[in-house]
Amino acid sequence: MDLDSSSPLAQDKALTVLGLESSCDETAAAIVRLETDGRASVLAEKVRGQNEAHAPYGGVVPEIAARAHAEVIDGLVKDVLDESGLTLAELDGIAATAGPGLIGGLMAALMTAKGLALGSGKPLLAVNHLEGHALSPRLSAPLAFPYLLLLVSGGHTQLVTVEGVGRYHRLGSTLDDAAGEAFDKTAKVMGLGFPGGPALEKMAAAGNPDRFELPTPLGHRPGFDFSFAGLKTAARQIWERLENPTDADKADLAAGMQRQIARALANRASNAMKYFMETYPDIHEYAFVVAGGVAANRTVRTALEAVAETQGFRLIAPPMKWCTDNAAMIALAGAERLRLGQTDELSAPARARWPLDARSAKLEPAIGSGRKGPKA
Ligand code: KG4
Ligand code: ZN
Repeated sequence: MDLDSSSPLAQDKALTVLGLESSCDETAAAIVRLETDGRASVLAEKVRGQNEAHAPYGGVVPEIAARAHAEVIDGLVKDVLDESGLTLAELDGIAATAGPGLIGGLMAALMTAKGLALGSGKPLLAVNHLEGHALSPRLSAPLAFPYLLLLVSGGHTQLVTVEGVGRYHRLGSTLDDAAGEAFDKTAKVMGLGFPGGPALEKMAAAGNPDRFELPTPLGHRPGFDFSFAGLKTAARQIWERLENPTDADKADLAAGMQRQIARALANRASNAMKYFMETYPDIHEYAFVVAGGVAANRTVRTALEAVAETQGFRLIAPPMKWCTDNAAMIALAGAERLRLGQTDELSAPARARWPLDARSAKLEPAIGSGRKGPKA
């Protein structure tokens, strides 16, 4: 999509868009209305999780996810149309996440959206899931561009400057695992259940984070990238050395791991805030947005609040339902794109990998960008 070649569309009317999401393990549909002044309202939304289906395997199984999305997505579309009292004919566009994500899962939302777009004659918006997260704070309240975003979920850990719709600059991302993945995999090794993040946080509550010596990812080197694989491996090795671990052992290891992840996120965020202030010296109010499931973690939140306060940024965390995977953010991103006239052909492909900022991904590819490389 090329900003320059697009023609602004319907500046004088509110746009109502249906959004669909199925890139990981949440199936979701939502209808969002975007006013001409940029305010957004969610007219209806539904999310269906798959935790029970994946729990026996301790992680998301792509085939199970794809089938589960396909089974429920039609019903969710019907539900949000019913709830909003709207018909397809009353919508202005149909948006779906087209990537990045699990290809089998992406198909469910994208194919459904294509069918609906074809049947209704409405334009299709093939949305980048990361763009949805990047714009998600604007679902709750107007927020002026530019702002700094930390996206921290099970699939992504990246720092991005959001300069406008379609204008994103990735400052840094994970070189290996996402932060949520480090939580999940450590929880799995420790037998804490799935999803691991919340389970590990609960276990950590009574723990002593100082007991086990765990590495500090990337030390205090400058820069904006993250790395969690070394920390995850260190935690696993400590775990394997423990004989008959007690609840106290578990709590101490969980607390140590959680604190190191929080510290790494806060340290990189602090670097990014300094860079952001140098890049935009004249902004009235600096905003730092945290999105993604890991933002639910209290220790992480507290560490990020502390750096935001030190650097003079206002920390904005969208409500949890819009922080984790949802379709309202996809509908909003679709509506913003539609406003700019950036619609997609019905041949738009699903893309397992789709960097939000293609230029940064090309110029500064993160290490290991092959099959095992970072998700975005
Ligand atoms: O944004 P999200 O719902 O889905 C994507 O990955 O896109 O994020 C899910 C991730 C999982 O890795 C989960 O373990 C983690 O967020 N998570 C947490 C907490 N709640 C969710 N990690 C740490 N502490 C939590 N309380
Ligand atoms: Zn996500």
